[in-house]
Amino acid sequence: MANVKFMRGFLAGAVALGTLAGTAASAQELNIYTTREPGLIKPVLDEFTKETGIKVNTIFINNGLEERVRTEGANSPADIILTVDIGRLQAAKDYGVTQAVKSEALEKVIPAAYRDPEGHWFGIALRGRVVYASKERVKQTAITYEELADPKWKGKVCIRSGQHLYNVSLIAAAIAHMGEAKAEEWLKGVKANLAKKPSGGDREQAKDILAGVCDIAVGNTYYVSLMLNGKDEEQKKWGEAINVILPTFQGGGTHVNVSGLALAKNAPNKANAVKFMEFMVSDDSQHIHAEANSEYPIKAGIKVHPTIASFGELKADNVSIAEIAKLRKKASELVDKVGFDQ
Ligand SMILES: [Fe+2]
Repeated sequence: MANVKFMRGFLAGAVALGTLAGTAASAQELNIYTTREPGLIKPVLDEFTKETGIKVNTIFINNGLEERVRTEGANSPADIILTVDIGRLQAAKDYGVTQAVKSEALEKVIPAAYRDPEGHWFGIALRGRVVYASKERVKQTAITYEELADPKWKGKVCIRSGQHLYNVSLIAAAIAHMGEAKAEEWLKGVKANLAKKPSGGDREQAKDILAGVCDIAVGNTYYVSLMLNGKDEEQKKWGEAINVILPTFQGGGTHVNVSGLALAKNAPNKANAVKFMEFMVSDDSQHIHAEANSEYPIKAGIKVHPTIASFGELKADNVSIAEIAKLRKKASELVDKVGFDQ
C-alpha cells in the first residue's frame, strides 16, 4: 500500500513538474515541494490562495526530496520545501538546497528553539513523541522516558524501527539529557523490554496494544487524533484501546519535533515564498493547520485540536531542535551499536 501511495505521489509530482517548467517564475505562483500528505496541507494552501491570489503548485515527493532539488540545480522550480522532522529539514540545509531568511514576523512567533539559528528552516507546528498505554492493562498516568528501560516493562513495549527519523530524534534528545554512555545503556534497556522486533508505523503500535502484544508503545501525538477522528473503523478501535501519557525526561519535558519549512536556494518566486512563510505563522493559518494535522500550533494562544488537548498540557522539553539535529548522527549509530532493530 505504501508503494501505491508513493507511486501516486511520484506521478502527481511528475505531471505537476511538466506544467511548472514554463511557469516557474510567474508573478502570482508559488511552487511547494513537500513530503506531506496532500490532504493535510490542502486547507491551509487554499486559504493562502484565497487571501493572496497566489496560485500554489504542490509537488508531493515522499522520498529523496533534497536530492531532487539538488539535481534540478539552478533551474529548480522549488520555492518552498515543506516537510516534517528536524531530520528532513536539516538534511535540506546540509544538501545546500535552502537559503537563509531574515524575517521579523517569523522570529517573533517561532521560539528560537524551533528554528535554525541561521534562518534556513523554521518550525511551524510541533508534535510530541509520547507513550501509548493500554487502557485495559496500564493504570499509571505518568511516565518518564527513562522508565521505558525499567525491567518492570519486560516484554511489554512496542516501537517502530529505531532508525526511523522520529526515533532517531528521540534518541538524540536522550543523548542530550543523559550523555552518550548512559543513553546507550538506556537504549539497551528499552530493547530488552521489547515485545517484538521493531516494525510498522506508529499506528501499528496502537494496533498491537489492542491485540495484547504489548502494553505500552512509543508514537507521535497526531496519529492518535488521526486514528480516532478518521474514517477507518479499524484504526478507530486501535485509537480507542490506548491512553496517551505525555512522558518527560528526568529534569526535562516531553520530546517534541517540528513540522516546518525552508526557502529553496534558487526559489524563482522568492517574494511569494517569503509571503507564504509569514502566512504560515498567522493566526488563521496556524488554526487551520492545527485542525487539519492535529499538531500543536507553534504560535502561542492558538487553540489545540480537542483530541490533542485531551492528553493534558504539553510541557515541551528544553533541548533545542538545532541541538537534536547535531546529535542525530550519534543517535543513529547507537541504534546500530545496540542492535536495536535486530
Ligand atoms: Fe508521521
